[in-house]
Amino acid sequence: MSTRDISLSYGDFKVLQGVSFDVSLNGLHGMIGPNGAGKSTLFSVLSGLMKPDGGEIHFGENSFGHASPARRAQLGLGRTFQIPREFKHLTVRQNLMVGPRKQPGESLVELFLMPAKVKRFEDEVMARADQLIDFLKLHAVADKPAGGLSGGQKKLLELGRALMSEPSFILLDEPYAGVNPVLIEEISERIREINKERGIGFLIIEHNLMALNRLVTDLYVLDTGKLIAHGEPGAVLEHPQVRAAYMGAAA
Ligand SMILES: Nc1ncnc2c1ncn2[C@@H]1O[C@H](COP(=O)(O)OP(=O)(O)O)[C@@H](O)[C@H]1O
Ligand SMILES: [Mg+2]
Repeated sequence: MSTRDISLSYGDFKVLQGVSFDVSLNGLHGMIGPNGAGKSTLFSVLSGLMKPDGGEIHFGENSFGHASPARRAQLGLGRTFQIPREFKHLTVRQNLMVGPRKQPGESLVELFLMPAKVKRFEDEVMARADQLIDFLKLHAVADKPAGGLSGGQKKLLELGRALMSEPSFILLDEPYAGVNPVLIEEISERIREINKERGIGFLIIEHNLMALNRLVTDLYVLDTGKLIAHGEPGAVLEHPQVRAAYMGAAA
């Protein structure tokens, strides 16, 4: 996936100022930066929820142009949100089954004229949800309302929901935020497995640098809407501009 010169402003406030990057679709990449740097906004632009003022996004063979979020998901881009967006009153299994894609049963014509097709689709979706419940070890809570999950379980569910649409690449926004250390390792392990076994790539925003650096091969640093460094994690964190950005944010 690559971007060229993405920019976005809220009024006079420039949130993204010419962001260009290239990431391999089968790799594990990280993105860090102080709060307010524009990381989540960049993800919203990539996934089509926000329209940039300018710039281009290429995903594999495709140029996203003004493609809708649903279209981008169809082309293989998945994402999770910094604040989990589970349907609180639905169970974990139901949350997984409420997919982002067009489902046959949603058209009344299909529902009445092609019940077998609808049924087959639902069976497939259910089977996929069950596989993910297994994979993410969510059996114990599969039939519980998602609103009652722990922070870490919600993040696993978010990951599961992203996987339901069978993406080729996933944007993860702070997968470790509000997650206890044991589950952090669990989440990292699942990401590694998904990457290794299914060839799905990730771009991961995260503040937990220790956990992130163990997972990714390279880091991008976003500060006040600009990428200020990119490279192997150890080297990037030694970068004077990166140190200054972080100290500036802490002050
Ligand atoms: N809807 C909005 N209207 C105005 N400003 C916003 C809006 N959403 C985010 N911002 C501002 O844009 C900047 C970038 O936010 P965000 O992308 O969430 O940063 P990050 O994820 O790096 O912490 C912040 O200064 C934030 O206050
Ligand atoms: Mg954010």
